[in-house]
Formats: sequence, C-alpha cells, structure tokens
Amino acid sequence: MKEFFTLAEIDEVTQAVRSFTKYQPKIGLILGSGLGDLANSINQPDFVPYKELPYWPTSTVHGHAGQLVIGELEGQFVIAMQGRAHYYEGYSMAEVTLPVRVMQRLGVEVLIVTNAAGGINPEFVPGDVMFLSDHIAMIAMTGNNPLRGPNLDEFGPRFPDMSQSYDRKLLEIAKTVAKENNIKTFDGVYVSLSGPSFESPADLRFLLAVGADAVGMSTVPEVIIARHGGVRVLGISGISNKANLDGTTITTHEEVLEAGQVLVPKLTTIIRGFLASL
Ligand code: HPA
Repeated sequence: MKEFFTLAEIDEVTQAVRSFTKYQPKIGLILGSGLGDLANSINQPDFVPYKELPYWPTSTVHGHAGQLVIGELEGQFVIAMQGRAHYYEGYSMAEVTLPVRVMQRLGVEVLIVTNAAGGINPEFVPGDVMFLSDHIAMIAMTGNNPLRGPNLDEFGPRFPDMSQSYDRKLLEIAKTVAKENNIKTFDGVYVSLSGPSFESPADLRFLLAVGADAVGMSTVPEVIIARHGGVRVLGISGISNKANLDGTTITTHEEVLEAGQVLVPKLTTIIRGFLASL
C-alpha cells in the first residue's frame, strides 16, 4: 500500500492511460455501486482495464467493473470510471483518490461523481435522486483526509477552501435538465463514513441530527482532491435504501445493487442532458 504519491508517480500513471487513448477528456465521471452501466452510453470508447495501470486501485466489490471508459458523450469527451475503490477495501486515501489526480493531469475540468447512498432524510425512498449541495466529511474530519501528507503544490494550496465543493452553476444546469425530463430530485447533504459495516440505528439518528440527508462510503475523498486541484464538481446520490433509523429493517448490498436498475436510466438522462447543456 502506498500512503502518498509524488507528482512523478501520478504522471507515470497518466502516461499509461494516455497510451490507451487518443482522446483528451475534459469531463470525469465516477460511477458508484450498481451505476456502472452508465458508461455503456459512451460512443467509440477506448477501454483501460485498471489492472493495466501502475498503482491503480482495483475495486474488489461486486457491482464495480474495474475499467476506464474514455470516449464521446453528448458532444463532450469524457473519462468514466466503471467502478471505484473504497477506503474500506484496505486502500490508502491516496490510492482511493489517485484516479482523480490522474484525471486532473489528463486535463479534466469538471468531475461528475455518483454514488449509491442510504436515505436518511425521511422523505427519501429507494430510487430517488439527490444532488449534493454539500457534504459532511466525517471520514476526513477524524484524521483520514486524502490531503494528509506532503502537499502537491502543482495542484493546489496546503489549506484548500471547501466552502463551495459542489459548483452552484453546474447544480443549476443539472436541476434544470432533471425538471425538463420530469425526474424528481432533491438537494441534500451527503455524509461519508468509512464502512464497510452499515450504520447502527443510533449512528443513523446521530447523522440525521447533525444534518445529513444521505449516507455512503465514498465520494467525499474524491471531491476533496478534485477541489484541491480546482476541478468543478457535480455530485449525485442514487438513494438505494431507506436508512433504518428505528432498527426494524435490515440493509443489504443486494438491495443497493437492485436500486441501481431503477437509478441508471434516471441518472443517464440527467448526465446526458447535463453534458449536452455544458
Ligand atoms: N449506508 C452506507 N452506505 C450505503 C448505504 C447505507 O445505507 N446504502 C448505500 N451505500
């Protein structure tokens, strides 16, 4: 496991990705659990299996394919991660976020990050779409910040601002597209925990009390790294299950993947429309 990467190592990976494709992607897309099928809409794709890349974390989780898909979608050149690595799999924060650093070196300016999340807000039901208006970086607050370690000044400052992690203009574009397509969406706060155990009912009541609308095990590390490098971010949660605040139901990975079936068409419509409007 590598705790930190140097710029030279990041560029070694960047060169390896370049050797697979002639495209110069400007938009990055991270596809969460059960949402990988979104990448199937990409035209004339080049594929880069994660295992062909040095240092690259490969996801061990069912529902994550493990390749980059680079090509054209709605007039934009995109690089999509079909599957992401998580901290709970045993990777360092630097490894989990290496793909975002590589995207930055490839020239990506906008990152669309998706995830499957548990709905804490009592209004949410499985299959709902929530745009991230902000996050609670619980995993980072308690010491596992992906920027811990030597600062890479080429990307950004030692103490980067996180006051507008989710770009308001991008959010407005995405909301307009959803509305035009009659897709109901919510705005909300995503809280990231390390996982892999799901939350206890008391954990969930705590998270509700501190202002979280949805909970998951990803996304925030990638967003912190993207913002450090000045990349604009659109964050979308697909609500896969209702948080079990009173302990009367159980949560399974299978239901998370099942909700992906309902969510993929909605997110595909939103993301395609968003790209077309950029
Ligand atoms: N908790 C944490 N992570 C999740 C959940 C959940 O309920 N659903 C999907 N990812």
